[in-house]
Amino acid sequence: MKIMHVVGARPNFMKLAPVFGALAERNGFSQTLVHTGQHYDNRMSEVFFHQLGIPAPDNNLAVGSGSHATQTAQIMTRLEEVLLSNAPDLVLVYGDVNSTVAATLVCSKLLIPVGHVEAGLRSGDRTMPEEVNRVLTDQMAELLFTPSTDANENLLHEGISEERIHLVGNVMIDTLVRLMKFNENSHNLKRLQKQSNLPLNVLHNKYALVTLHRPSNVDDPEKLREIVSTLEELSDDLPMVFPVHPRTRKRILDCCVASSGKRHFYMLEPLGYVEFLILQKNALLVVTDSGGIQEETSFLGVPCLTLRDNTERPVTVTMGTNKLVGRNMDQLVREIRRILVGDVKKGCIPPLWDGRASERIADILVDRLCCNLGEY
Ligand code: UD1
Repeated sequence: MKIMHVVGARPNFMKLAPVFGALAERNGFSQTLVHTGQHYDNRMSEVFFHQLGIPAPDNNLAVGSGSHATQTAQIMTRLEEVLLSNAPDLVLVYGDVNSTVAATLVCSKLLIPVGHVEAGLRSGDRTMPEEVNRVLTDQMAELLFTPSTDANENLLHEGISEERIHLVGNVMIDTLVRLMKFNENSHNLKRLQKQSNLPLNVLHNKYALVTLHRPSNVDDPEKLREIVSTLEELSDDLPMVFPVHPRTRKRILDCCVASSGKRHFYMLEPLGYVEFLILQKNALLVVTDSGGIQEETSFLGVPCLTLRDNTERPVTVTMGTNKLVGRNMDQLVREIRRILVGDVKKGCIPPLWDGRASERIADILVDRLCCNLGEY
């Protein structure tokens, strides 16, 4: 069976790595890899391929940045040619980025079956581009691999038949489990320090880890200014370590949200997977608007304060360590002060977040391979 993986943005790479690895260990599959080029900076892309052991892409569509329509259309046009010349039996897509929906739509028109890894997540918020991508991808994809039972319920509720849905667990946790074993050796710690220029005493004491990139938080200059200045104020009591997404850095520069130069507010370049994992694991708390980080902190047992009104990952709130604080800065300050005095939300790890989700996906594809062979 010829399987083509299509990925494009940073959060795709940690999901691809374990699935690619699990399929490579089984007979009967040949795999090719297409990178759309949605993320193109070394620090948003190449470093992840290197650290996660993903082979170099067979094709890079080099679409780069652009409006949603431009980016999606360019991926579609360029991917169509690759699909026509490669004729895969199945295409695997990941998560909820523009590359995911673009690839799925092209495949649907070419009658190439698609498997969606991380299907069924819903925030219910159609103003998020990712929500639109999720809903459309799941309608078109033939095989839907879900991370948690709420995702199955969402899909059934949208009229998707049960046979298409497979509860496999969380593939991102597969990568975390694999790399956690050897992330804290002295070589990696040294590299983190070199990359980040963080003083050693920050890493050895309490600090908060911050990430921000959602349009709803960073595109409005007023809102961005409010978030950054609140975190800066708090850094007097708790150092803030903030690896800045290129999108956010651009906005910060555009709207002159200059740091006031407080000593304990550290704005860094985006980090590699391993370096970020070390920071996450050792943080007192994480402030974020990312999807994946809500899951990783729940797995690691680190308190997470999410600057969003909703989440497509509700198990991180009901079972994990995540709290939604919306965009209410007073609530953010209250929650951080609570954690500082030891009032911490305890969580547990959701079922099937056990490091073996990608093996389950591979087993399902082996079954499918056997069925297809039986047909001929
Ligand atoms: C994308 C995903 C989002 C995901 C995030 C993780 C969509 C709709 N959004 O958002 O779900 O959580 O990736 O990072 O697909 N840029 C660079 N270098 C890069 C990539 C981006 O400088 O390598 C800058 C550009 O200014 C670009 C902006 O970031 O215009 C936005 O990039 P884009 O890929 O469009 O979306 P993200 O905000 O990264």
